[in-house]
Amino acid sequence: MVTDDATREPLLDVKNLVVEYPGRLRRGGFRALHGVSLQIEAGKTLGLVGESGSGKTTIGRAILGLAPVTEGDIRFHGRSIARLSGRRRRALSSDIQVVFQDPYTSLNPAMTVADILTEPLLASGTSRRDANERVRGLLEQVHLPANSGRRYAREFSGGQRQRIAIARALCREPRLIVCDEPVSALDQSTQARVLDLLEEIQQRLGVAMLFVTHDLDVVRHVSHTVAVMRQGRIVESGATSQVISDPAHPYTRALLLAAPIADPKLQRIRRQERRAFLSEQTESITAVR
Ligand SMILES: Nc1ncnc2c1ncn2[C@@H]1O[C@H](COP(=O)(O)OP(=O)(O)OP(=O)(O)O)[C@@H](O)[C@H]1O
Ligand SMILES: [Mg+2]
Repeated sequence: MVTDDATREPLLDVKNLVVEYPGRLRRGGFRALHGVSLQIEAGKTLGLVGESGSGKTTIGRAILGLAPVTEGDIRFHGRSIARLSGRRRRALSSDIQVVFQDPYTSLNPAMTVADILTEPLLASGTSRRDANERVRGLLEQVHLPANSGRRYAREFSGGQRQRIAIARALCREPRLIVCDEPVSALDQSTQARVLDLLEEIQQRLGVAMLFVTHDLDVVRHVSHTVAVMRQGRIVESGATSQVISDPAHPYTRALLLAAPIADPKLQRIRRQERRAFLSEQTESITAVR
């Protein structure tokens, strides 16, 4: 289990993060994040929820060094990583990894699974023999058959490809994995199996996760803490059980009421509640104006 007693800081500490994408036609660019702060403890999962376009992926990209940090800071394991040079940022890639939503585009279909998994190891100086040995261990860890290494990524189903993507993320023993909607493209039962796998891996390896999702049921399943985003800001955060059972912000409540449930009768009641809630909101907004 990875602990962080060296610094006593959380593993990841994002402070007042502002991200502005440079604009092409509009001068001054587009501000996607307006001062976001969040923390993730070593070995824990923060679920990031919110409507489409609220800035969830942008936070993940900023942590990975793929989005421009305009203001604020990102501290990882006690060190600022918001503005690292290319070489230093690459050195960090063993510590921070990513699993994307679409397992069909995130893996090179023309590479064998063994090549996909050994590539980052060989690039970081691991010997061929050790890398091959590690691939066997990784396949076992994600519950894929031992002979999967010889097959091409295109020969696997969506769920299996996501297991390969998880194995690739685990290759260099990261401390943090950014999971951006990693189960959204999978059917329900495959989703559950991949989520169980991520949980098992976390318990075994103590890796922390930033888990971006639209689905509050998924959040309930995987995350210790949750942050709710709206329009580039975090409107509420806290322990998952608390935020979900007793949401403080009206937007969180609306999100909870919007989540579909299997029972049609309950679903109907929820829909009515949600409608009532939304019209209340509109009235109060009108009243304030
Ligand atoms: N490269 C970019 N250049 C300009 N604007 C961008 C870029 N990437 C994202 N944006 C804008 O930033 C905002 C936040 O986008 P982001 O992808 O972070 O949202 P999201 O919460 O992940 O949405 P979704 O749930 O749909 O994935 C959006 O308005 C989007 O149009
Ligand atoms: Mg996104």
